[in-house]
Amino acid sequence: MKITLSVIKADTGSIGGHNRPSEAMVVKAKEQVESATANGLLTDARITFTGDDIALLMIHTKGVDNADIHKLAWDTFVETTKIAKSQGLYGAGQDLLKDAFSGNVRGMGPGSAEIEIEERPAEPFIVFAGDKCGPGVFNYPLFECFANPYHNAGLLLAPEMRAGFTFTIMDVNNTEADKIITLKVPEDYYDIATLLRDPNHFVIESVRENATGLQAAAASTSRLHNIAGKYVGKDDPVAIVRTQKTFPSTGEILSPWALAHYTLGDNRGSHHVAVMPVKQNSIISYFDGPTIISAAGYCVHEGHLTEVVDLFDQPFWDYVRNKSAEKTLAIRAQGFYGPSMAGMDELEYTGVVENLKRLDAKFILRNTIKTS
Ligand code: 13P
Ligand code: 13P
Ligand code: MG
Ligand code: MG
Repeated sequence: MKITLSVIKADTGSIGGHNRPSEAMVVKAKEQVESATANGLLTDARITFTGDDIALLMIHTKGVDNADIHKLAWDTFVETTKIAKSQGLYGAGQDLLKDAFSGNVRGMGPGSAEIEIEERPAEPFIVFAGDKCGPGVFNYPLFECFANPYHNAGLLLAPEMRAGFTFTIMDVNNTEADKIITLKVPEDYYDIATLLRDPNHFVIESVRENATGLQAAAASTSRLHNIAGKYVGKDDPVAIVRTQKTFPSTGEILSPWALAHYTLGDNRGSHHVAVMPVKQNSIISYFDGPTIISAAGYCVHEGHLTEVVDLFDQPFWDYVRNKSAEKTLAIRAQGFYGPSMAGMDELEYTGVVENLKRLDAKFILRNTIKTS
């Protein structure tokens, strides 16, 4: 059976500050997708939240970028915004950057990751959802789990993976059009690394198997400051990764997250901290962070989802969470100096620009060098 897995997420308001949506918002989102399932638009759906972002996982047969599915997501976020406003929550409607829906949520604020697949007899997959980070948070773990035998032992042990994978990478600084490049491992390994080392500029959009062309992963690529022209909150991306058989195993896909890699996000979206893999429906706390990622495992069969397995809810990840907190505290000890805060290219969307302009007017020139 041909089905589409669509994950669309948005921050439409939260309790405390940027901490978590209210129960009433989550209930409303559930009602919306349940009624779309009853009406036959969806075959199944699940609602989760990660920090202050609500993610809709929708299963259907309409293909990617379908206007009805995107409208359902947009309308759901309009409804949760209404609740957030009625409850006086913080940042109500934060990620709805346009007034009226125009066919697709891309470029309007919400993040989306979608894959159309021919269902395998067993179709396991993972939905990753992040808060307080940009889409570049996936560069390291997605590249590593598909391309590096250190994490993906299947590249050595499973002959069906030997042909490697193709990465579609987007230059997210180009706002005129989707500027993408398609590169393969193992052939283009160093070229891919050259791009992915700059996760605020180049991000993985999708991954396919070289041998079959089958799509293994999709990630959201939206950058809110590129849409709004100023800082309006962090992108807080989502990704779908199919697992097992000719794809890496579920454990191989989780393996790179044990590093608790440093990424840009956290408080005001402007600090480098270590990613913390968290359980489903975790909240945000220390320094409006740390940056968190949740991982929900499912199987889908004839368009219907199994119950979820909460992949970071396992004692191993308690150790990683502690390590992540230590790494975050280590860089936070440096406050605003140097690499602990974002570079100017990211900060230029914030109020620091006005500060610098004001200070520039107060600078004086001394010992001018005569050139003629
Ligand atoms: P199976 O042999 O059940 O496919 O599992 C192998 C595996 O993925 C272990 O990581
Ligand atoms: P969100 O993007 O998760 O709303 O966070 C915004 C922020 O600035 C937190 O300090
Ligand atoms: Mg928020
Ligand atoms: Mg958020």
